[in-house]
Amino acid sequence: MLKLAVLASNRGSNLQAIIDACKSGFIDAEVSVVISNNKASKALERARKENINNFYIIGNSDHFLSEVLKSYDIDFVILAGYIEKIGPLVLKEFPQKIINVHPSLLPKYGGVNMYGLNVHKAVIDSGDNTTGVTIHYVNEEYDKGQIIDQLEIKVKPTDTPESLAKRVLKYEHKFLIEVIKNL
Ligand code: GRF
Repeated sequence: MLKLAVLASNRGSNLQAIIDACKSGFIDAEVSVVISNNKASKALERARKENINNFYIIGNSDHFLSEVLKSYDIDFVILAGYIEKIGPLVLKEFPQKIINVHPSLLPKYGGVNMYGLNVHKAVIDSGDNTTGVTIHYVNEEYDKGQIIDQLEIKVKPTDTPESLAKRVLKYEHKFLIEVIKNL
């Protein structure tokens, strides 16, 4: 069974989707550890509730992250709403093993400051009539790693950033677990 580490900074709804998919057997894997840079995150609360090992990591500690991932013998690292950059040591130790989910069709609307509602606001402001979800490998630049798969979602003329964010997130939960299953 594959061992996953999930890194999440806030709400952790994608983390929950992964946990549920492992529990139901949809994915033949287990979430061995959850790591957050935010002590008060809902993600850590979810991990505790599910009896999953969890760590709060202060700032961007490449060395500590590397030690934790190695100690749990992790096969894949999933960034599910993790706002810190992954350092060079972990990138080197887990080549093509770290994936991120982003709520737009990258390379559009990615990079620094493109998170949360900012992404969906930018999509609506641009007048694009499609948006989507991108799953990609992680490299040293935000949202720039090799794309694994993308899902297109229609933008409705009546959408607000909030309504679009809500719809995209629902698709993220399904798409992310499908991509992990295929990996
Ligand atoms: C998601 O929209 C994800 O694509 C982005 O951050 C958000 C995290 O949401 N990277 P949640 O914490 O999984 O609820």
